Amino acid sequence: MIRRSVIRSTGHYLPERVVENSHFEQTLDTTDAWIRDRTGIERRHFAAEGERTSDLAIKAARAALDRAGLAANDIDAIVVATSTPDLTFPSVATMVQAGLGMTRGFAFDVQAVCAGFVFALANADGLIRSEQANRVLVIGAETFSRIMDWTDRGTCVLFGDGAGAVIIEVAEGEGTSDDRGVLATDLNSDGTLRDILYVDGGVGTTGTAGCLRMQGNLVFRHAVEKLAQTAHRVLDKAGLAPADVDWLVPHQANLRIITATANKMHLPMDKVVLTVADHGNTSAASIPLALSVADTAGRFQRGDVIVTEAIGGGLTWGSVVLRW
Ligand code: UT7
Repeated sequence: MIRRSVIRSTGHYLPERVVENSHFEQTLDTTDAWIRDRTGIERRHFAAEGERTSDLAIKAARAALDRAGLAANDIDAIVVATSTPDLTFPSVATMVQAGLGMTRGFAFDVQAVCAGFVFALANADGLIRSEQANRVLVIGAETFSRIMDWTDRGTCVLFGDGAGAVIIEVAEGEGTSDDRGVLATDLNSDGTLRDILYVDGGVGTTGTAGCLRMQGNLVFRHAVEKLAQTAHRVLDKAGLAPADVDWLVPHQANLRIITATANKMHLPMDKVVLTVADHGNTSAASIPLALSVADTAGRFQRGDVIVTEAIGGGLTWGSVVLRW
């Protein structure tokens, strides 16, 4: 018998303000048609003034707790994936801990940009496997609207704000790919590629938060190549093949990247969860948002094999395969 991390529940929160593509036509040399054709994005949510990443994270966490019928003190640990924390420190995770009224356990943030949720889930699985926790709240929460250069049409039309949460808890498994829960993880980074996607500010440089800078077409090429590689590798590690996959829940950056990855895995698009049209790229929040939206719609059946994959600044990239 081995310890597996099974998803108990999901939850999400999106800020109230919805901004359609046409909004950007007023201030930038862009069109709704360009944004839809090149990215699949139609609209995104932006946080209200004063609404912080921790506020979104707490709402997503409460939704996941409610759906599971659990109280905050039933959780042993909180891991938040974010690159847009409220403050330099303390972590968003400790703010969530306080916000939920959780008076035990421990909480910390993980920063792997758009791949953050995959890294957080892999680490949370490690906490469960190594008996440091039995139940972990894993959250992806972002307010990327705070780090946009609103004059740069190549980036500011792409991103949105939001938060998603999953609760994973220990279950006994046989150690085979028939087990429920996280079956394998695959994490990667290459720091030599840091200049193609970064934020031009920070504590040790400008002393300000800075703005996101991206060489989109270069990131695009790496994404198409590396996401298919990591998805195949994680399936290999689990002893599964692409034909065993019931759902691909990819990072929602660009519909063309998602389609290319699905094609390389020989997966039909009806097995792919898509939220990019309505959410845009919410960085570390995009996968748990997509998981929660699909879960809420009742799309996953017990026993389904789900692959998640993401790539982000660093570059960082990786994947998780789990059985629902
Ligand atoms: O989540 C982290 C990972 N990030 C990603 O996965 C994003 C990866 N990259 C992408 O999704 C795409 O590269 C973009 C959507 C950012 C850009 O699409 P692209 O097809 O790679 O376009 P491009 O960057 O090669 O630019 C093509 C043209 C350029 O014009 P010229 O130089 O050919 O005259 C751009 O200036 O499109 C222009 N362009 C725009 N035009 C209208 C760039 N942004 C816009 C815009 N509206 N918003």
